[in-house]
Amino acid sequence: MLGTGGGLRVVDVGGGTGGFAVPLARAGHDVTVIDASPDALAALSRRAAEAGVAQRVHPVQGDADGIADVVEPASADLVLCHSVLEVVDAPADVAAAVATTLRPGGAASVLVANRAAAVLARAAAGQFDLAVAALQDERGRTGERDTLRRRYDADSVTALLAKAGLTVEEIHGVRVVADLVPGGVAEREQEALVAFELEAASRQPYRDIASQLHLLARRS
Ligand SMILES: C[S@@+](CC[C@H](N)C(=O)[O-])C[C@H]1O[C@@H](n2cnc3c(N)ncnc32)[C@H](O)[C@@H]1O
Repeated sequence: MLGTGGGLRVVDVGGGTGGFAVPLARAGHDVTVIDASPDALAALSRRAAEAGVAQRVHPVQGDADGIADVVEPASADLVLCHSVLEVVDAPADVAAAVATTLRPGGAASVLVANRAAAVLARAAAGQFDLAVAALQDERGRTGERDTLRRRYDADSVTALLAKAGLTVEEIHGVRVVADLVPGGVAEREQEALVAFELEAASRQPYRDIASQLHLLARRS
């Protein structure tokens, strides 16, 4: 199904200030962004206007599990759900709403925080108590002060999406080592770091220690 301008019909759940929505609109796609934050949506509107794509970006204030109130079920070609499943009240409801929004054969792009990365990052920083907490906690949290409500691994997020009726086709690691490499090295060796990341992203076990896991899933 095509959007009004001939591009894909995209829904960005928890799309925030449009870091993904605006480039997609610039590429010719029609993007509805549903987000709980009015401030984020205001920034999104400004950004879309500055990029000259305001007519292809539709900001809507709403809850991630209420997509059906905003977008016709089974109508989207692509639903983005990036860095959202780790902060919402009911991730299973959000995953179900993503699946309901997709047309049969449509794709979901899901990005989640990876528990293994949180453990390794805390340990590498010498915060061993936080690393142990993240290992032991059922949800991979480092404690009460953790800003995320949960983290995932490849199996747990695959199971969550499968339960919603989404079949995972690909999993990539995002920032396998980029967050661990000292800033100066990352800057100096940027090209080589990117080459490494691209090579490692789909290979296990490297994929499984990346800061985020990116899943491409499809509604059958
Ligand atoms: C970490 S940001 C991610 C933004 C964007 N998806 C990205 O990857 O750059 C999480 C976003 O989810 C939104 N959010 C959190 N809970 C939500 C909910 N229940 N319904 C809709 N949006 C929500 C926040 O307002 C925020 O913009």
